Amino acid sequence: MKRIVIAIDGLSSCGKSTMAKDLAKTIGYIYIDSGAMYRAVTFYALENGLISDSGVINEERLMSDIKENKVKISFILDEHTQRPLTCLNGVVVEKDIRLMRVSEHVSPIAALPFVREALTRQQQAMGEEKGIVMDGRDIGTTVFPNAELKIYVKASAEIRAKRRYDELLAKGEKDICMDSIIKNVKERDEIDQNRAVSPLRKAEDALVLDNSNMTIEEQKQWLMDRFNERVCQN
Ligand code: DC
Repeated sequence: MKRIVIAIDGLSSCGKSTMAKDLAKTIGYIYIDSGAMYRAVTFYALENGLISDSGVINEERLMSDIKENKVKISFILDEHTQRPLTCLNGVVVEKDIRLMRVSEHVSPIAALPFVREALTRQQQAMGEEKGIVMDGRDIGTTVFPNAELKIYVKASAEIRAKRRYDELLAKGEKDICMDSIIKNVKERDEIDQNRAVSPLRKAEDALVLDNSNMTIEEQKQWLMDRFNERVCQN
């Protein structure tokens, strides 16, 4: 059967990763969470003192570190879950990159043109052999404009904030406040949709999925049906 590229875009916490991961596992494709790559760069910047307390990014240092290949991002498969784990310079940082501290700084990092260029190049290389499901904000528009299947996922800000809250709680993060999560979700929406480089927008040929009132099982089935339709057409 012909292997295709599947691009899944949407706002933060709309359930893209869950559905993309499940689909990849079911159909035997590689799954790449492009948001994890932006998070890994943000984690690198925080760990190396490249973001001041007031949020100012040392762009010059970050740019030269990226150019000098000091920010190496890769994925390994978790032996037990068969899920990909994000690595930064060979160290698994999957948990670290999901912390609020990273979420609070990732949007300005993801808006930097030199960061986007470097990660886009890496993502395109990962998709050369096809057989890949990648999720993010600009996958169907910039990274893989020729993807055979493009999905644009949406859900209300309140529902997305509740999902993020439950996720953080399940990970054992303490001192989480629903109001600050809603604020963070809305701020990120604003930056992601209005930044100059690769803003989040629906690709013209993307199929829209509003999952505000859908269960995970329903989403899974919807996506599987779209995949089967597309593979039959190709
Ligand atoms: O999907 P996420 O919330 O883990 O993404 C983290 C951040 O990275 C988010 O602010 C948007 C940004 N991002 C992006 O700009 N482009 C992508 N392809 C993926 C994520």
